[in-house]
Amino acid sequence: MSWLHERTTELLSRVAEVKAHDAFPFFRPMQNVGSRVAVNGASYVNFTSNDYLGLSTDPRLAKAAIAATITYGTGLGSARPQATSVRHDELERRLAGWLGYGGAAVFTTGYQALVGTLGAFLGDDTTVIVDRLAHASIMDGVLLARGQHPDLELRFFKHDSMRALERCLETAEHDKLLVVVEGLYSVDGDFGTLDETVALAKKYGAAVMVDDAHGLGTLGPTGRGVAERFGVLGEVDLLVGTFSKSFGGVGGFVVADAPLVDFLKLSARAFLFSASLPVAQVDAALAALDVIEREPARRARLADNARFFREGLLELGFDLGESETHITPIMIRDERRTLEMGATLFHGGGIMMMPFVAPGVPAGTERLRCNVTAAHTRAQMGYALEVLAEVGKRLDVLPMRARTSAPSWKKAWWMARHAIDGALNAGPGHLAKQAEVLALPPLRAAASDVRRAVRRRAIGDGWSDAPPAPPEPPRREARAPVG
Ligand SMILES: Cc1ncc(COP(=O)(O)O)c(C=O)c1O
Repeated sequence: MSWLHERTTELLSRVAEVKAHDAFPFFRPMQNVGSRVAVNGASYVNFTSNDYLGLSTDPRLAKAAIAATITYGTGLGSARPQATSVRHDELERRLAGWLGYGGAAVFTTGYQALVGTLGAFLGDDTTVIVDRLAHASIMDGVLLARGQHPDLELRFFKHDSMRALERCLETAEHDKLLVVVEGLYSVDGDFGTLDETVALAKKYGAAVMVDDAHGLGTLGPTGRGVAERFGVLGEVDLLVGTFSKSFGGVGGFVVADAPLVDFLKLSARAFLFSASLPVAQVDAALAALDVIEREPARRARLADNARFFREGLLELGFDLGESETHITPIMIRDERRTLEMGATLFHGGGIMMMPFVAPGVPAGTERLRCNVTAAHTRAQMGYALEVLAEVGKRLDVLPMRARTSAPSWKKAWWMARHAIDGALNAGPGHLAKQAEVLALPPLRAAASDVRRAVRRRAIGDGWSDAPPAPPEPPRREARAPVG
């Protein structure tokens, strides 16, 4: 056994333990994508996707991608300096125009856009000041730059604390300063006070870089993201976005003043030394931008869905941390219970939600991240709330009195829709799975309320409520407990 194998043992033995309890939440092989997905013959309501506007399955994007593949092939065979198509130029022109900047550079992923841009601008004479909760791509970008430039000063400040940021700005070693923050924070669902961040940075002559991977297309009066929401679009020096979320595809981009973009295209190693984004994705992104600009109703539906789901979760008594948006973390604050809840929802409830545990989030802030999208239906969200209520009580995350205020007939309808839509999505195997879900007491109670109401109507006053039968033991316990 080589040292390479030794390196794997600690992590893989932890994973094996979690897998032994059927609680490993990653790499589940989906047979389709969207708000409902089939996995191994059963159907799940999916709250793990960042496809916020539901565009990844939009026929207009698929048509654009197919046509581009026929014309330009499946790949361009090289990196951007040698492999820029007229469609790349068109997309960069459209993105710059959309956000009101002098230029745009399209990268192959958002990760590369961030790592490449930070690497291009940071040097031994720079201080970079980063929000402590910033995404891994930002962390990797600054750490990589520091590896190349040992005198680069790297400072972190407490999430969205203007006092902490000002302290860093005041005491920075260098006078070339860059402040780096996210727009909409991807794991907590909150935004920082970007207007104050920009004002403070400008006071100290610092440049500002914002990664708005989750806000562009979804937030702001016209979907131009968190900078638009806070009235600072144009004041952010380097604005980074991705096509892997609201655009429903793959790819990343930076918009900035024209000379900054020209410099980036000649200096960012992730731009120069990695394959160019295939034209299928370029044209899908252009089609997505058309939809984002012309169909504000999708954004309104996303906001409406997010409101419905948040209100339901808060009514049940869940702790949603600092979330203000469609990214709604259910804070559990315990690793074992977070994994257990994710597994119980999946195996017993037909719901996919992503558990986040350390090191993905700081220990003590473990949560299930639920991403609401415009593609979710009321029935899917209502069903999920009923199951969450039951599972939350079972695992002591909610008090026993927690319940939603939805009428019984609605609960029964949501449950029926889950059975029908699930069978259509995954085949009849889904119904066997649904039988397990029926063992959840509130859903059983809702079904029996409806049965009783129907009988009362059919038989009239002569009908009397028989004493309830003792509860049947569940057919099969949901598998989950970890460790
Ligand atoms: C905040 C944030 N920035 C950047 C990225 C990277 O984007 P991409 O998926 O395009 O590489 C992600 C993706 O998870 C993200 O959440």
